[in-house]
Amino acid sequence: MQTKTDWRPRTPGRGGIEVSALGFGCWAIGGEWSTPDGSPLGWGKVDDDESVTAIRRALDLGVTFFDTADVYGAGHSERVLGRALAGRRDDVVVATKWGNLFDERTRVMDGADRSPEYAREALIASLRRLGTDRVDLYQLHLGDTPFDEAAELRDACEEFVAEGLIRAYGWSTDDPERAALFAEGEHCAAVQHACNVLEDAPGMLALSEERDLISIVRSPLAMGLLAGARDPGRRADRGDIRSAPPAWLRWYEEGGVPAGHWAARVEAVREVLTADGRTLAQGALGWLWARSRRAVPIPGFRTVAQAEENAAALAQGPLRPEQLRQIAGLLA
Ligand SMILES: NC(=O)c1ccc[n+]([C@@H]2O[C@H](COP(=O)([O-])OP(=O)(O)OC[C@H]3O[C@@H](n4cnc5c(N)ncnc54)[C@H](OP(=O)(O)O)[C@@H]3O)[C@@H](O)[C@H]2O)c1
Repeated sequence: MQTKTDWRPRTPGRGGIEVSALGFGCWAIGGEWSTPDGSPLGWGKVDDDESVTAIRRALDLGVTFFDTADVYGAGHSERVLGRALAGRRDDVVVATKWGNLFDERTRVMDGADRSPEYAREALIASLRRLGTDRVDLYQLHLGDTPFDEAAELRDACEEFVAEGLIRAYGWSTDDPERAALFAEGEHCAAVQHACNVLEDAPGMLALSEERDLISIVRSPLAMGLLAGARDPGRRADRGDIRSAPPAWLRWYEEGGVPAGHWAARVEAVREVLTADGRTLAQGALGWLWARSRRAVPIPGFRTVAQAEENAAALAQGPLRPEQLRQIAGLLA
């Protein structure tokens, strides 16, 4: 059996990028933002001081990888992350994303731009908001970008690497063929994709293994459902995307109530995930590490308590193979 400390050897991957086994996702700490018709795209109101303290606490607990996007909170998430990392920049790997158009003043997302010229413009703006001279991992945020345009953007990213503006790049997409196209670039280090206990991603994990990519796993807690905080009947605040879920967000119903089908599946596996004294969220993270040694989950957070609980999962490591098999059986 693996010991608590040797379960994940840390070797630099493609592009020289070395990340902690756990990263933190900075979508929620962007605060409120919306579509032009007012539908929420953020997670409701946040306390910036709490976010900054949570990030610094995570750093002290061994989490040195942070994922954000220019559009989260229409620039606000990047600013908060930059503030939190002041004086610690060289200790961390910072990932951000581009592709969506937004207005920082109105906090409205109002389109997308897939041109290489805009990629450069967005990168310069992200560097300014983050208060840094380089982005460690720059990611295309538009998951369905056509192949020909994506190839141009991949080449633009190679130029950014040559200029020292970024160290490496990747694509946030759930399509393995698209991820493979980006992986042809020398400094493509990662793909960011969804995967969690409720929805596995075998194709993408296999591709990451084959192409030596880091699988940056978004929504590892199924947007809170796998953290147990969203009790049946609990409603999400207005301003929280879960209160008015778009079509792709199937885990929640109108009002932010967990969807019955998915809530039942969480209950089916709760006992296995929380064995060995883990909390539900810690078990869900352990499942991902057991699922693939390439998987680097990036749970979102809004409080210091969540940051501490999630970072503590590092010391617990992956679930055991028989627990993985039990879960697969329960969900079959
Ligand atoms: N297209 C893309 O590129 C894309 C899309 C989605 C996400 N992402 C990235 O992936 C990151 C993570 O995914 P996600 O934010 O969608 O969802 P997630 O990590 O599955 O869930 C995060 C949410 O769960 C709750 N939570 C976290 N830890 C908890 C704990 N210990 N106990 C109880 N509740 C807890 C918090 O919300 P509440 O407290 O409000 O319940 C938190 O905001 C994002 O922050 C972002 O960086 C990228």
